Amino acid sequence: MDVKTTIRSIPGWPIEGVVFRDLTTLMQNPQAYGQSCDILYERYKDQDVGKIVGIDARGFVFGAVLAYKLGIGFVPVRKKGKLPWNTIEETYTLEYGEDTLEIHEDAVEKGEKVVIVDDLIATGGTIGATVKLVKKLGADIVECAFVVELPELKGREQIQGCNVFAITEFD
Ligand code: PRP
Ligand code: ADE
Repeated sequence: MDVKTTIRSIPGWPIEGVVFRDLTTLMQNPQAYGQSCDILYERYKDQDVGKIVGIDARGFVFGAVLAYKLGIGFVPVRKKGKLPWNTIEETYTLEYGEDTLEIHEDAVEKGEKVVIVDDLIATGGTIGATVKLVKKLGADIVECAFVVELPELKGREQIQGCNVFAITEFD
């Protein structure tokens, strides 16, 4: 099946000028959700990945399943104030606002191979901040993986030098 057809588009949400790509309709479709997770699993199963880093909140939905399928650990990168142990943080700008992300300082090992997972890359602010956090901890980023890319917003420019994979894209 074409997972793209299961994503709902909502013009003007949360602000005028944004077309929100709503992946809840993909997630509630078992074939589309399963296929999305399977595509990621097939891509990384032989890459000796040590951990999956998933981004708050929708990155958890795909990243946690991928970690389980690969039989490896899952690391949450969370919005500020949610993680209980020692953290490092990065502030970034979004298509519609600003936010701060944190990761536990002991979440990944130096030199450990990780894949970073989120549902969507738009301006690249979120993944840019996450890449900085993971690099500060010394892990080796195999790839940044998304279900959806919005190429017009040029998010890849925020993470030059990193491999990027997206299952599908919207103009
Ligand atoms: C959305 C999406 C990505 C991010 C992409 O998350 O899930 O994480 O925006 O945008 P960017 O490439 O312009 O940074 P959002 O911040 O809305 O948070 P949520 O997952 O908690 O809804
Ligand atoms: N995050 C940032 N921009 C987005 C968009 N257009 N649709 C869904 N999530 C987003």
